[in-house]
Amino acid sequence: MCGIAGYVGKKNAVQVVIDQIARLEYRGYDSAGVAFDGPSSIKVLKSAGKLDRLRELVAKEDPQATSAIAHSRWATHGAPTDLNAHPHFDQANKIALVHNGIIENYMELKEELVRAGHTFQSETDTEVAAHLIGAEFEKGGSLEDAVRRASRKMTGAFAFVVMAESEPGKIVCARNASPLVLGFTEGESLLASDIPALLPYTRRVAILENNQVAVLTEAGIEVSTLDGKVVEPEIFEVDWDSTAAEKGGFEHFMLKEIMEQPDVVRQCLAGRIAGNEVSLDGLFSDHMWQEIDRVNIIACGTAYHAGLMGKTLFEQMLQLPTDVYFSSEFRYGDPLLSPRSLAVFISQSGETADSLAALRLCKQRRIRTLGIVNVVGSSMAREVDRVLFTQAGPEISVASTKAYLAQGIVLFLLGLHIAQVKEMPGVSVSAGVQALRNLPEAIQEATELADEMKEIAEKFAQAPLVFFLGRRADANVALEAALKLKEIAYIPTQECPAGEMKHGPLALIEQGTLAVFGATDPATRDKLISNIREVQARGGYVLAVTTSDDPSLDGVAEKVIKIRPTGDAFLNALLSIVPLQMLAYYMAHARGCEIDQPRNLAKSVTVE
Ligand code: G6P
Repeated sequence: MCGIAGYVGKKNAVQVVIDQIARLEYRGYDSAGVAFDGPSSIKVLKSAGKLDRLRELVAKEDPQATSAIAHSRWATHGAPTDLNAHPHFDQANKIALVHNGIIENYMELKEELVRAGHTFQSETDTEVAAHLIGAEFEKGGSLEDAVRRASRKMTGAFAFVVMAESEPGKIVCARNASPLVLGFTEGESLLASDIPALLPYTRRVAILENNQVAVLTEAGIEVSTLDGKVVEPEIFEVDWDSTAAEKGGFEHFMLKEIMEQPDVVRQCLAGRIAGNEVSLDGLFSDHMWQEIDRVNIIACGTAYHAGLMGKTLFEQMLQLPTDVYFSSEFRYGDPLLSPRSLAVFISQSGETADSLAALRLCKQRRIRTLGIVNVVGSSMAREVDRVLFTQAGPEISVASTKAYLAQGIVLFLLGLHIAQVKEMPGVSVSAGVQALRNLPEAIQEATELADEMKEIAEKFAQAPLVFFLGRRADANVALEAALKLKEIAYIPTQECPAGEMKHGPLALIEQGTLAVFGATDPATRDKLISNIREVQARGGYVLAVTTSDDPSLDGVAEKVIKIRPTGDAFLNALLSIVPLQMLAYYMAHARGCEIDQPRNLAKSVTVE
């Protein structure tokens, strides 16, 4: 995620950019740094840890610069260390750069630069961008020309900001998919990765669009395309206060996090699919996957629900026996663990005490461990044998939304990876990869169901009980959808596989009871329709979520919500959580609940 800031003007530039990144705290922090115009060269100060560490370094120097760039890092690649912190220099130490995003072809670019005599201090893709721009700058022309030429050579989703020793009083930035916002005011120019960092200085802002370059000086900001064509930025006046701005204009972080899921998928997939294949770095050797006879997935809360999706997937796709455990039960259950098994730990925070204790038990028993973790540098990420990051960005709302989706996608990528390595007949990796490519747009469309979900939510906001039902993968999603409603709207829920209803829970259906059916699975459609009829016969109101290519629920359920099919049944089920997250959100909203911080709950549970 990371926060980026830049300032040119008469104020103390270093103080301004540090204040700016402090306002981006919700984007996460593990290291921070600043570069500024010194009397004869660019100076960089940076440090791992909280922003206060950087503030201490700055206080010692008390720099009086008029242009500066700054960065707060939330690691997605490479540990949060001083060396990996931004800004990074080019080979000649004459250009400093901060960056947000992932440069997918950085290895290729790095090899070329190494052949040309460059040496690198860090393992980051960012340093490669700095060197590449430096190399282009040496060929001649202005800093912005060098940025344009270098940008064309980079692929991925990124935004970066540079300053050059030979062009004091100027900052250049470029954007491809990662956010950058420009701030306009008399005699000063600003930029940041998000609006809240600009608000104390100006309310006149413009979004830098993809493949655009901006040049900031005291005189103003000039925006152009990668081909050098000048474009007029669309400046608008921000009328939110800064708390609303942190939430991207949304009323709650939860809604913001639901709505940013199309980007989360893109971020999670970045660099992991190429052509028709999956490419996951840093996993076990190919030989090891042949050896594994069983997978145990261990997690808590929402991550446990993602684990249930993993079981469905691994057993159906890979015929690999898989069990899923609550971490708190696993560690006291004296689990039987085959020496050839793999223990997969799923955690957003990487700090959940029960999950860490279960991990340590597996390590004692010398079982191979793999983590699926969101927070780089967390205890879990450091202690597992191998880790796959979900790359979902910081999740602030206590109720997890985007992390769940990213956990499901990483499990799917892992499934495809194993199928690829084992050359499993009957599994089409290329079809899976194609379905993943369809996912961001399908999710985008699902987020556009917000008004429809709000209407249903308001109708049932005072419901005393809501059912969540489905079969196979849809049954797993039903558990997660029910948890969302319980935790933020405080409405009791009953969730179970739809076929189990008649063994007890059906007794709770009364006239008007809302029953939400996940119905994306064509293989169990007929049986599910029978379950819907059973609920309706007792007076229940059925809301079904299905794919838009399937008309079989039209006229069957009282209300049908349709999502765009991705081409893969697992991903369709996973995607169906998006409207159900919105259902919970709007029901909680209609009931006036504290959505981002529900009563009695915490984001990271570090007690057992
Ligand atoms: C808490 C959070 C949940 C989360 C669970 C597991 O209960 O409120 O949203 O799913 O912990 O957390 P983890 O960080 O391990 O995924």
